[in-house]
Amino acid sequence: MAATIGSSACLLLPKPCLLRRASTEAVRGALVHGFSGGGRETLAEAADIHEDQGGGGSGGGGSAASGGMVSLVQGASKGLGLEFVRQLLERDPKNKVIATCRSPSKAVGLATLKHQHTQRLSILPLDVTNEPAIEAAAKFVANQLGRLDLLINSAGILHSPGILQPETSLSKVDSKALLLTYQVNAVGPTLVIKHMWPLLTAGKGVGSQKAVVANLSARIGSIGDNRTGGWHSYRASKTALNQLTKNISLEFARRKDPIICILLHPGTVDTDLSKPFQRNVPNEKLFTTQYSVRRLLEIIDKIEMQDNGKFFAWDGQEIEW
Ligand SMILES: NC(=O)c1ccc[n+]([C@@H]2O[C@H](COP(=O)([O-])OP(=O)(O)OC[C@H]3O[C@@H](n4cnc5c(N)ncnc54)[C@H](OP(=O)(O)O)[C@@H]3O)[C@@H](O)[C@H]2O)c1
Repeated sequence: MAATIGSSACLLLPKPCLLRRASTEAVRGALVHGFSGGGRETLAEAADIHEDQGGGGSGGGGSAASGGMVSLVQGASKGLGLEFVRQLLERDPKNKVIATCRSPSKAVGLATLKHQHTQRLSILPLDVTNEPAIEAAAKFVANQLGRLDLLINSAGILHSPGILQPETSLSKVDSKALLLTYQVNAVGPTLVIKHMWPLLTAGKGVGSQKAVVANLSARIGSIGDNRTGGWHSYRASKTALNQLTKNISLEFARRKDPIICILLHPGTVDTDLSKPFQRNVPNEKLFTTQYSVRRLLEIIDKIEMQDNGKFFAWDGQEIEW
């Protein structure tokens, strides 16, 4: 089955300038709505970014044109998300990254990166099944940095002990597992884009001067490429993510918002998500997170407006719907 992983309007949103003026009260509100425990600790750390750049209220954290990008990586505790954070920080000393995850206090890899890049990395708690927490994170970013040039939605689930196992037969489909997968893999990223939208509109862009939203999908979500069946929940959740992303990309284009949305298939990558299904994957087809993320960032670097709404594999090839 391992081969399956790798083969097979909101018109009333506040304007970016209003969000930029988000006050300390908004951040306090963020704490009430979703930030707790480790969240307080990380909000204090995030303030380092604010001081470092002389104040986020002035409207942003540097210029993408001058080499500094503001990126948010959602689902950054481990795996591909963590590696995106690492590479974004390492590729340009002016880059600033907001990394979100469910439990910052348990995210050891992020803590190590925070130690190395204290002023440029901010860690926020965010569970994609909790919309108020997403909204609070957006307010916090608005207050501290004022814009986003790149949003990477990386969080995803394929299996979870006692709750979800990739189904080998229709008889094993369970409504709770199906809905949870849909909520995390499709609804969550959509809500993150919804709340980060004004920040992306204010973004200075990646290369092409447009902000980029990159949603981590999977080839298995392609209906045209489905030759084996199985894995109903995961497969359908990624198909839903693909349709939602395409839909959002069309809305942004219609409104002339300077945002490009794409879907990325990372290949079969050696992470906790793929671990139980790696047995039959040939070595050369099992990528390291370092390799996969490097290839995905190369795609993002070269993205153009005409790529809006497209679904790319790690090697730059477009994937059929
Ligand atoms: N690895 C592959 O072979 C492969 C192939 C195709 C597509 N993908 C896609 O690539 C993305 C990254 O996968 P990965 O391989 O890096 O998996 P991973 O190592 O298992 O990481 C998954 C991440 O999702 C987070 N997450 C799970 N539920 C969440 C929730 N409710 N709210 C916020 N975060 C949540 C996890 O956080 P916690 O630490 O809190 O659990 C973790 O940071 C996923 O969307 C996956 O579907 C992976």
